[in-house]
Amino acid sequence: MRPKIICHMVSSIDGRLLPGRWTPPAAGIAPGWEHRHYEAVAARLDADGWMVGRKSMQDFASGTERATVGVAGNLRETYVADRKGRDVAVGIDPHGRLHYGQDNAGGDHIIAVLGQHVSDAYLAELREDGVSYLFAGKDGTDLHEAMRVLGEPFGIKTILLEGGGITNGTFLKAGLIDEISLLVYPGIDGLAGVPSIFEFLGAADDRPAAGKALRHFGTETLEGGVVWLRYKVEAAA
Ligand SMILES: NC(=O)c1ccc[n+]([C@@H]2O[C@H](COP(=O)([O-])OP(=O)(O)OC[C@H]3O[C@@H](n4cnc5c(N)ncnc54)[C@H](OP(=O)(O)O)[C@@H]3O)[C@@H](O)[C@H]2O)c1
Repeated sequence: MRPKIICHMVSSIDGRLLPGRWTPPAAGIAPGWEHRHYEAVAARLDADGWMVGRKSMQDFASGTERATVGVAGNLRETYVADRKGRDVAVGIDPHGRLHYGQDNAGGDHIIAVLGQHVSDAYLAELREDGVSYLFAGKDGTDLHEAMRVLGEPFGIKTILLEGGGITNGTFLKAGLIDEISLLVYPGIDGLAGVPSIFEFLGAADDRPAAGKALRHFGTETLEGGVVWLRYKVEAAA
């Protein structure tokens, strides 16, 4: 069974995702509340870890490409490395572009979600780094298959989907988001074209959320005026 997927994001009031562009807090309000709340609220969601797209995972991938040889076994099966009881950090990286150089992102065990077309050398490099991996079909876009494997054998029950917008958009289109947890920071970006919470790369008439409806089930106003909104994603009536 696939895990429950909660899309957990922080945005400006216009739904934009790049905090460095937002207006500063009002006079007398300390900066940085959105980041502190983001982590604190994530902990309250009681998940087994978090999941991001290749670009958002880049900050945690500080290794370099290596010609690893001599790793035994069938490299083309799901690889479950030693998680050591840690939360997981899942990177959706269809082309195998990330070179981690370690088995964790911020202390959480890395699981790479890949296309089957990545090279043996790349898979050997991941094993040498202690990184787990699984395949999302031939080209790495079969998210239903990837989430099924995350459920079993990885045993993930709940996972936080933490962006960026492109990755959130592909999960939305695939009908794989169960809940949305959105922290709205009291600031504005304001510029057309800046990435927002969902950025499905489709045709102009595409409607990635078609067939879905949101049921609001929680609002909290947090310190600094950040508002935490919670929704269940249901089938539309
Ligand atoms: N405010 C927030 O809460 C928040 C959270 C996260 C990120 N961010 C910001 O968002 C920005 C990055 O967001 P982004 O939307 O540009 O990138 P992203 O979602 O992090 O990564 C997009 C990439 O992931 C890969 N990918 C993921 N799912 C895929 C799928 N189903 N099919 C094919 N490819 C898939 C592709 O990699 P390839 O290009 O290799 O094919 C794609 O280009 C950063 O600036 C980050 O700081 C903000």
